[in-house]
Order: sequence, then C-alpha cells, then structure tokens
Amino acid sequence: MLLLTRSDIEKIFTMKDAIEADKQAFSLFSQGRSEVPIRTQIPAPKANGTFLFMPSYVPDMDVAALKVVNIFPGNIDKGIPSSPAQVLLIDGNTGVVSAVLDGTYVTQLRTGAASGTAFDLLATREAKIGALIGTGGQAATQLEAMLAVRNLSEVRVYDLNAERTKNFAENMNEKLSSYGAKIYAVASSDDAVDNADMIVTVTPSSKPVFDATKVKKGATLSCVGAYQHHMQEMDPVILTRASKIYFDSKEAVLSESGDILIPLEEGLITEDDFTGDIGDLILGKIIGRESDDEIIVFETVGIGTQDLVTAKYIYDKAIAAGAGYTWE
Ligand SMILES: NC(=O)c1ccc[n+]([C@@H]2O[C@H](COP(=O)([O-])OP(=O)(O)OC[C@H]3O[C@@H](n4cnc5c(N)ncnc54)[C@H](O)[C@@H]3O)[C@@H](O)[C@H]2O)c1
Repeated sequence: MLLLTRSDIEKIFTMKDAIEADKQAFSLFSQGRSEVPIRTQIPAPKANGTFLFMPSYVPDMDVAALKVVNIFPGNIDKGIPSSPAQVLLIDGNTGVVSAVLDGTYVTQLRTGAASGTAFDLLATREAKIGALIGTGGQAATQLEAMLAVRNLSEVRVYDLNAERTKNFAENMNEKLSSYGAKIYAVASSDDAVDNADMIVTVTPSSKPVFDATKVKKGATLSCVGAYQHHMQEMDPVILTRASKIYFDSKEAVLSESGDILIPLEEGLITEDDFTGDIGDLILGKIIGRESDDEIIVFETVGIGTQDLVTAKYIYDKAIAAGAGYTWE
C-alpha cells in the first residue's frame, strides 16, 4: 500500500493535472459510469462538527475509493484544517487498498479543479480580473485554478478576517508568482467583485457573501461553500440575472445546498432555469456560453467521482515517479 503525503503529491501533480482529472470525473459521472451513493453524514454536535463518508466506484477504471472527510469549522482557530481527510484508493479487481492519500490535499485539488473546469469551459476568453471570497483551507487551490485557466492580471481576495486575507494575499503572491497575476487583499466583497470576470465564493456562510447587483455582465461565478440546506453564500439575485446555471451534480446540489434550495423554495427561480450538469457540457449534450454578456453560475458541492479520479491520476503518476512510501 502506497502512502502519499501532501508534499509527495505536490512534487508530481499540478493544478492542470487536477483539472483534467475533474473533467474526466464529471464526464464519467454524467454518463452514469460511476457509482456514487449519497454520502453518509453523521453530526458531531459536541464539537460542532460533521463526519462525512464518501464512497465511489468506477468499473471502467477498476478502482473504488472512500474519502473520510470531517468538517470541523472550529479547527481553523486551532491552526489545523477545518476539513481533515484521507482518501483510500481500492483496487477494483481485488478489493485491496492500494493507496492512502492526504485527503485534505486531494479535496483542495479536486475542489479547486471543479471551479477550474467551470471557468475553463464557461468564462469569457479575455477574462482579466478574478475575485475570491473566503481565504480558508480551500482558497489557495481555488485561486490557482482561476490562474491556471485564464491569463488574469489581478485577483482580489476578501475574507471577514482581515488579518487572514492580508497573510493569504502575501503568501499567494509569492507561491503563485509564476502565473504573473497580482493578488490584492481588499476590504469588502464589493471591492472584490467590482468589474470581476471570474468570482469564487468559498466560505461556510449562511448569508450571502456578495451583492449580486455589483456583479458585471459577462461574469462567471463558482460557488463552492454551501453544502447544507441552511447555508447560502450566493446572493440569490444573481440567479435571476444569470442566463445559465450549471451544477457538478444537480441531484447532489438539490439534496443539500441552500444556495439553490432556498431561492427555489422562495419561488425566485424554478428548475426550468437550470441548464444542467457540467459533465453534460463536457460531453456536448448541453450548451455553454453563447455571448460575452451572459452571467453564468456554477454551483458545486463535490462528488465522490472527483476524489476517485483525482486520487487515481495521482497514484498513477506516483507509481511512475517512484514517489511516496510503501507500507508493506
Ligand atoms: N464544494 C466542495 O466540493 C467543497 C469541498 C470542500 C469544502 N467545501 C466547503 O467550502 C467552504 C470553505 O471551506 P474551507 O475549508 O476553506 O473553510 P475554512 O473554515 O478553512 O475557511 C472559511 C473562510 O471563510 C471566511 N468567511 C466566512 N464567512 C464569510 C463571509 N461572509 N465573507 C467572507 N468570508 C467569510 C472565514 O473567515 C474563513 O476564512 C466550507 O463550507 C466547506 O465545507 C466545499
């Protein structure tokens, strides 16, 4: 069994690799070629946390996977990830666990890559300005995904915690300098979204984190954080301004995300406003952006197929490179 730490993975696997893996995952998912039972959630009220178990199986790839990812929002103040996780990769022919990967990093990669996939397929070609709202554990890969798919000149980042925002912008200017974009910490979400072509929201907020009237025509949004019914980071007005609304999985989004469930229940939108799953866009079954003026929204809650395909792509590269530690 191969053990792969974050630093093992960082040496062999890029954001562009992660975006390729997610595209494959969304395509397999939309063709019904992955088995992804709805994840099991067990609340841990004592610690204000949730245990999540995400199984998946792709017969075509002879691989199954189980991600154990536990959401403990209080961890951020203890200096440890708020979604600690491991991914078990399982040989589909023998049932033997072939690898254990740092699931926190696999999650960050595949979640960033979901936004990267949406922006690659849906953002305007000439997009220049990015906005990132939320600078917690998932933020770095969201930022890198934006930079990996468009030639941005600047990205504005905003978080309720000003100190975290400033440190994040400083670190990212250094870490992602090869992309040539300037990363600015800004003082409000209005400053972040003003004139932005690509917008990511990645917070656990239960109330909208930006003002939809400030979003310019032609913008593409990826909303990542709302995974429970009461959670809502998207200003629902954006859904009435958007001409297209995509999901990683409509079924998964409608089973858990307040970003879409609340405006549906309030009658602000109906299911007729939904364009479809991004996998169907990749397969050419549904339409993409048709003009530079359209506002387009992508909502993602994450599907197990992303973890499986990402982990398998990492594993294959690790075997080829002789990376990681083999536990006999
Ligand atoms: N879609 C997916 O596949 C997926 C995967 C992993 C995590 N998530 C979700 O994404 C969200 C963010 O995850 P994380 O690990 O980065 O969380 P985190 O706790 O590490 O960081 C969240 C950040 O959001 C900030 N924030 C909260 N409310 C805000 C507001 N109104 N405006 C601006 N900033 C605000 C906090 O100050 C914090 O810095 C969580 O809800 C998590 O469950 C989604």
